[in-house]
Amino acid sequence: MTETISVLVNGKKITSEVEPRLLLSDYLREKLDLTGTHLGCEHGVCGACTILVNGRTVRSCLMLAVQVDGCEVDTVESLTEGDGMLSPLQQAFADNHALQCGFCTPGFLMTITGFLENNPDPNDEEIKQAISGNLCRCTGYTNILKAVKQVSKSRKLKEVVKE
Ligand code: FES
Ligand code: FES
Repeated sequence: MTETISVLVNGKKITSEVEPRLLLSDYLREKLDLTGTHLGCEHGVCGACTILVNGRTVRSCLMLAVQVDGCEVDTVESLTEGDGMLSPLQQAFADNHALQCGFCTPGFLMTITGFLENNPDPNDEEIKQAISGNLCRCTGYTNILKAVKQVSKSRKLKEVVKE
């Protein structure tokens, strides 16, 4: 038995037939070929599978595809513009050497994207708290912190220029 779901994925409306027990992470990776969402632990611990559902960060390995029926889902693929340009956050990761193997990176990017929407001018403690649920085994967290600060600083500068 399958169920029909209709989801706005990265701005595009998609209707799919899914098994009721299909994980959201498997739906994205296997049905929609959005393999930027990585799977590490598959039980909610590592944060590699983090995406946004209706603007809120969730672990896609802990949700079923049927639960996002009627929702807006944004994956790491949504960050890059159609022209292939990196988003400011992705560029900040590159500038600050905030990744090595890159396995954890999509999860960090989506966690930070959701976080900065709600807190555009965070202090160090707030950033540390925000990324505390995402595990990185190779780079460490110092450069990720620098990348987040670079983005928030450049956003602030843009706002000052606008005023
Ligand atoms: S794969 Fe989902 S939290 Fe680790
Ligand atoms: S860059 Fe390798 S796990 Fe984070």
